[in-house]
Amino acid sequence: MDIKEITPFIGAEITGITYEDFADQATVDAFVDAVNQRELVVIRGFEITPQQQVALAGRLGTPVPFVIQKYRHPEVPEIMISSNEKKNDKPVGVARVGNFWHQDSSFVADPAPYTMLHGVNVPSTTGHTLFASAVDVYDRLPDEWKNKIAGRNGIHTVAKRLRIREEHVGLSVAEFRAWIDIEHPKVEHPLVVKDPYTGREYLYGAPEYMDGVVGFDANENEAFFALVDSLIQDEDHVYTHRWTPNDLVVWKTQTTLHAATDVEPGVPRTVHRVSIAARA
Ligand SMILES: [Fe+2]
Repeated sequence: MDIKEITPFIGAEITGITYEDFADQATVDAFVDAVNQRELVVIRGFEITPQQQVALAGRLGTPVPFVIQKYRHPEVPEIMISSNEKKNDKPVGVARVGNFWHQDSSFVADPAPYTMLHGVNVPSTTGHTLFASAVDVYDRLPDEWKNKIAGRNGIHTVAKRLRIREEHVGLSVAEFRAWIDIEHPKVEHPLVVKDPYTGREYLYGAPEYMDGVVGFDANENEAFFALVDSLIQDEDHVYTHRWTPNDLVVWKTQTTLHAATDVEPGVPRTVHRVSIAARA
């Protein structure tokens, strides 16, 4: 097994490893440590069953069943099927969401700390996933802005991104909005957080999941969001994951900003996603 950095700012790739190697506790520890220290870990060509994916996810925390039952894997409820494929004219999973920069579920009070994807059927031509480090984004904020946001909370909401369409969730848009209001009222989180594993500070505030900063006026919010967006999207600080079959990709949701990109029309793509909550 070998672990190397993918970029200076985010990511580690583990090579020379199979699922069977995880029977060894030292391997598990090295994997967990790589995720916690590097925010994002990639293992390419990692052939596993859905059951094995959930077992591996269980090394990081508690895998949680996906909220919408019909897009759960039929045998493994902890797996959410993200897919544009159809079986008997019915979608087999949730069509791709998250085509914008975000920190997973920052709009809930207590987001699950890890996300794990397994590329079951992935094109290499399109459908890449972009990653940036929220630690690196915070580092690059000018001091003036670090001072302005110090001690402030961000107001998070999913409302800006209600792009899940009826056919994706089996609810009408009105029902879905009502569900969002009840299930996901706006929440506040500190904008600057210290990562418990690395002791490094990161920016918890992807603009697409935010209403604004507590105490900022509209002009300040606009300026802050524009600055943060430009820092996130600076191409010298973005890692583009070009999928290859059976890639396993796992990240810390709070310190990892990411964005899905479009899949070329007519090209099938299926990914198995597990959301991993902190152990109770
Ligand atoms: Fe995401």
